[in-house]
Amino acid sequence: MLILGLETSCDETACAIVKDGREVLCNIVASQIKTHEQYGGVVPEVAAREHLEAINMVIDEALKQSGKKPEDIDAFASTVGPGLVGCLLVGLNAAKALSLVCNKPFIGVNHLQAHVCANFIDTDLKPPFLCLLVSGGHTQIIKVEDFDRQEIIAGTIDDAVGEVYDKAARLMGLPYPGGVMLDRLAQEGNPKAFKLPEARVGKDEFSFSGLKTAVLRLIQSMEGKELPVKDIAASFQETVSNTLLNKTLALAEELNYKTIVLAGGVAANSELRRKFFAQAENGYSIFAPQMKYCTDNAAMVASCACFNPIKSNEPLNLEAFSRD
Ligand code: KG4
Ligand code: ZN
Repeated sequence: MLILGLETSCDETACAIVKDGREVLCNIVASQIKTHEQYGGVVPEVAAREHLEAINMVIDEALKQSGKKPEDIDAFASTVGPGLVGCLLVGLNAAKALSLVCNKPFIGVNHLQAHVCANFIDTDLKPPFLCLLVSGGHTQIIKVEDFDRQEIIAGTIDDAVGEVYDKAARLMGLPYPGGVMLDRLAQEGNPKAFKLPEARVGKDEFSFSGLKTAVLRLIQSMEGKELPVKDIAASFQETVSNTLLNKTLALAEELNYKTIVLAGGVAANSELRRKFFAQAENGYSIFAPQMKYCTDNAAMVASCACFNPIKSNEPLNLEAFSRD
């Protein structure tokens, strides 16, 4: 089963061709970072226009790199939501059009499910497992009982982790996109330099707004002095990664899960990966997508089309949605 997937939910225009959900033949990502850098964040209308300009190019490039023709493809998939609706429409309509022209099925995919499925690429991972999903818009712990049987058992009551990374980075004066920059600086800083608060919330809740305020106060208290950005970054990263690890481990232990899986853009974070992979010593089986499949990409969309598509009798009538 050869699936061509498209992803246009935010600021990457991506196309990939994946065999049987696990083997990536090609993975093309056109990033809009350069465009949005000047605004310090994604401008939805600008992003949609850029998707429109890039979509044919990424599809052509994917076919070229894989040596496949449109008629070799068994199904065309795209992200349906959640995401920016104007952006989603570009990939969604392109995939539907390809499906109609080639007379092959169209498969709709949920963006969050696609992040989870990034873990199936190049592995033999199968449910059941516990998944920590951390992206720019979501922070969830999901019980994945089967490919299409899942339950969200913890979530954030305010900001998502990626969002907090980006906001903290902006407070520290780092350029967009902040998360990855902050991670890079943190690796050279002292994680014990500053004590930042971990939120006291329920075992099924995350909260990061207090941490964000603490970073702001810390920076304000140093006004006029040169900011020790590496130490602030490392202390911030230490607090966030401890919070995510401790919550996930507590639920894994309570529910008796021995396999823990990371997903979403923040799964690319160096310290988060280090802390989770270290749990192998405690008898856990730890999975995280390869770096290129952590942040938004289309390989995870094609994989998800294979393992956990949006169920619909009339997939061509699926409409883009902004929120889950
Ligand atoms: O999954 P993703 O590509 O897009 C969404 O679906 O939201 O995640 C993007 C988020 C951004 O907030 C970005 O700052 C964060 O992931 N991110 C990171 C790292 N790489 C990306 N955060 C911390 N450390 C990283 N290395
Ligand atoms: Zn994403």
